[in-house]
Amino acid sequence: MAKARKLAAKDGRQASKAGKPVIYVLNGPNLNMLGLRQPEIYGRDTLADVEKLCHKAGTRLGLAVDFRQSNLEGELVTWIQQARTKAAGIVLNAGAYTHTSVALLDALNAAETPCVEVHLSNIHRRENFRHHSYISLAAKGMICGFGPKGYVLALEALADIV
Ligand code: DQA
Repeated sequence: MAKARKLAAKDGRQASKAGKPVIYVLNGPNLNMLGLRQPEIYGRDTLADVEKLCHKAGTRLGLAVDFRQSNLEGELVTWIQQARTKAAGIVLNAGAYTHTSVALLDALNAAETPCVEVHLSNIHRRENFRHHSYISLAAKGMICGFGPKGYVLALEALADIV
């Protein structure tokens, strides 16, 4: 009960110590393999490169970027739940969970925190099973096909919203 109340409270913790809106940039399974993984599709940049790019964009836009990656669906669900009180917005590349996870969709709907969905590759030019996204049902919008720049575009979109 106390835990539920804690998650329900919108008490200003969406701002960082420096007073900037906090944006969770969440990455799902296999994105830790960027740079090595199918570079013809995902490019040569590593996840550390993408993180650097996001921090740079965050500084420019006045946002505090909290960048995370997990291969575990449940951990991503927990982070999205925490975003309700700890973040002003979410950039989410859920990797393959995009196409399978009702749990992530439910978490996003419960979080009541604006989310921009990102994919490095253009999922609509790929296999049919990648054309459907559960995340899109809860997202403000979706950016795909522009590689790491998609994360910067998502942060710019959120800067206008939060
Ligand atoms: C991805 C696209 C997904 O279909 C795939 O499972 C990924 C990465 C992308 O960024 O292009 O892991 O989300």
